[in-house]
Amino acid sequence: MTTQPLLHVLSGQAVEPPPIWFMRQAGRILPEYRKTREQAGSFLNLCYDPQLASAVTLQPVERFDVDAAILFADILLIPQSMGQKLWFEAGEGPRLAPEIESNGLQALAKTPDFSLLNPIYETVRQTREKLNPAKSLIGFAGAPWTVATYMLHGKSSKDPSALRSLYYQQPDMVLELIERLTTATITYLDHQIKAGVDVIQIFESWAQGLPAELLEKLCLAPTAKIATSLKQKHPNIKIIAFPRGAGSFLAAYGDEPSFDGISIDTSVPWQWAKDVISPKKVVQGGMDPLLVRAGGPEMERAALKLKRIFADSPYIFNLGHGFDPGTDPTHVSHLISLIRQPL
Ligand code: CP3
Repeated sequence: MTTQPLLHVLSGQAVEPPPIWFMRQAGRILPEYRKTREQAGSFLNLCYDPQLASAVTLQPVERFDVDAAILFADILLIPQSMGQKLWFEAGEGPRLAPEIESNGLQALAKTPDFSLLNPIYETVRQTREKLNPAKSLIGFAGAPWTVATYMLHGKSSKDPSALRSLYYQQPDMVLELIERLTTATITYLDHQIKAGVDVIQIFESWAQGLPAELLEKLCLAPTAKIATSLKQKHPNIKIIAFPRGAGSFLAAYGDEPSFDGISIDTSVPWQWAKDVISPKKVVQGGMDPLLVRAGGPEMERAALKLKRIFADSPYIFNLGHGFDPGTDPTHVSHLISLIRQPL
């Protein structure tokens, strides 16, 4: 019997109070994070320094006593290991070069250097060693389509519909990229599991706006392939899919046997998720991160409503996306104590 509430709920049992963790809990809102990041010199130095990355992974557990730590890393380390240069422009976000849209797949290295990712597994080992056994360690990767969107354009896309057009114009190229990412991601997550993560979350941050046929082909199928392959190697690993913006196509995610949990974004109606997804999968998340930024009675009302709706179902408390960077950590502590009180 596991003593981790997150694993307990992911095995399909309702847990009261529900386990709690937050997306972007490690690297967005904590002053202690900013201090460690400064010490590392840059975000990427921090990702590749197991000692510091492990310290940052543990900070939210130490401050908030959340039920899980999420590995400190980034979804864009995979393209870096595939041969693209990666850097972050202050105030603007990630840059990848050369971008694939105009350079084709030759922009990638002939032989990817996956050994670049070794420090990440070391972070997992060091973190699992220090983490309280009752807390879960979550590993993660981006889903292939989401990572591909950054690789194709070389940066965050202001207009994701341009990527759909690119797919319609060059489907073979995009599918080949997704295929390569799928293979690399399986290897990456397999190593994270071997190093000690308890749960995997796959972030599909750019599902929004895709027609159902593309959601199936570009998002669900590759994510399910990754999850199925990981489960064959590690039958006990728990996997949460987070297709942000997938709308009612979430129901198809609910039907995929290799997922244990489905994380819902801010736009998903809670009662719909409870009625349609809960019978098949553990639901996670849903609360608007901006409510936590605001704090106060609106946050309290929403948190209790969410807790009431999922009271008798297996449910993981989380938000519909990562924390807003301006969130006051005291709002988070208050939210957690509210969720942990009996209704
Ligand atoms: O809680 C955590 O911080 C855990 C680690 C984590 C990071 N990125 C660290 C990070 C996780 C789980 C991610 C996932 C990630 N990265 C996603 C999927 C989730 C989502 O938000 O949709 C995406 C799309 C990325 C790509 C990425 N990385 C972007 C667009 C940016 C710049 C804007 C931003 O969100 O800050 C990053 C940088 C990044 N990743 C930072 C951190 C802590 C900020 C770097 C800094 O300190 O300047």
